[in-house]
Amino acid sequence: MRIGIIGTGNMAEALGTQWGRAGHDVLFGGRSPDRARSLAGRTGQSAGTVTEAAAFGDAILLAVPYDAVAGVLGGLGAADGALRDRLLIDCTNAVGPGFRLTTDGGPGAARTIADSTGARVVKAFNHLPDSVWRLTPPVFADGPVTVPLCGDDEQALEAVRVLVRALGCVPLTVGGLDRAGYLETTTAFLIGLWHSGHDPRTLLPPFHAATA
Ligand SMILES: NC(=O)c1ccc[n+]([C@@H]2O[C@H](COP(=O)([O-])OP(=O)(O)OC[C@H]3O[C@@H](n4cnc5c(N)ncnc54)[C@H](OP(=O)(O)O)[C@@H]3O)[C@@H](O)[C@H]2O)c1
Repeated sequence: MRIGIIGTGNMAEALGTQWGRAGHDVLFGGRSPDRARSLAGRTGQSAGTVTEAAAFGDAILLAVPYDAVAGVLGGLGAADGALRDRLLIDCTNAVGPGFRLTTDGGPGAARTIADSTGARVVKAFNHLPDSVWRLTPPVFADGPVTVPLCGDDEQALEAVRVLVRALGCVPLTVGGLDRAGYLETTTAFLIGLWHSGHDPRTLLPPFHAATA
């Protein structure tokens, strides 16, 4: 698959490195040509502008801070339909001070991105830190990490499942984009716990106990 990654930071590097290793073609597009070139050099992939990343291929990973998203999409001509029907993977977390979502009280990030672009948006990879995505593979005592996906387009979801498996993880489609807000809220909750030194896993009994 050809994947254009918008952003040259931690998530771009973590996921782009893995997808490159798995044989996919990645183009990193950043506002800093030097950072894009350096990342491409380190990973053996290509570099370009944000516009070139958006145009590159089968999928676009949006890997910029949420508060930069509207500007980035605007610069790509989203309002004029430039991203309509494209597969856009949204890994953003709109987490602000106090681990609160800056989207609270309105549509979530993925919903807003879908509505403003007409793209086939899949929410994915937002629920864990880049340090986990960098593991080769992200497998722990209970097995490979499960990656929840939300999206409305089956073809887009299937493409992202391929990209999840490329990391050595297991995809789990948890619903349409109407569920993405739950995933975003859950992640903000998890980040808050991790940052305050609590292990969210201690909140959860074994599956059989919860479903007995
Ligand atoms: N890191 C994680 O553990 C993690 C996990 C899950 C989800 N996420 C989400 O993934 C997204 C990216 O996170 P990250 O950790 O990769 O961030 P990061 O390391 O800070 O990288 C952010 C990237 O976005 C670019 N950027 C920032 N503002 C921009 C703008 N106005 N226009 C164009 N590019 C802009 C930055 O460019 P410059 O280098 O030029 O500043 C950089 O390439 C965020 O939405 C975050 O919430 C992060």
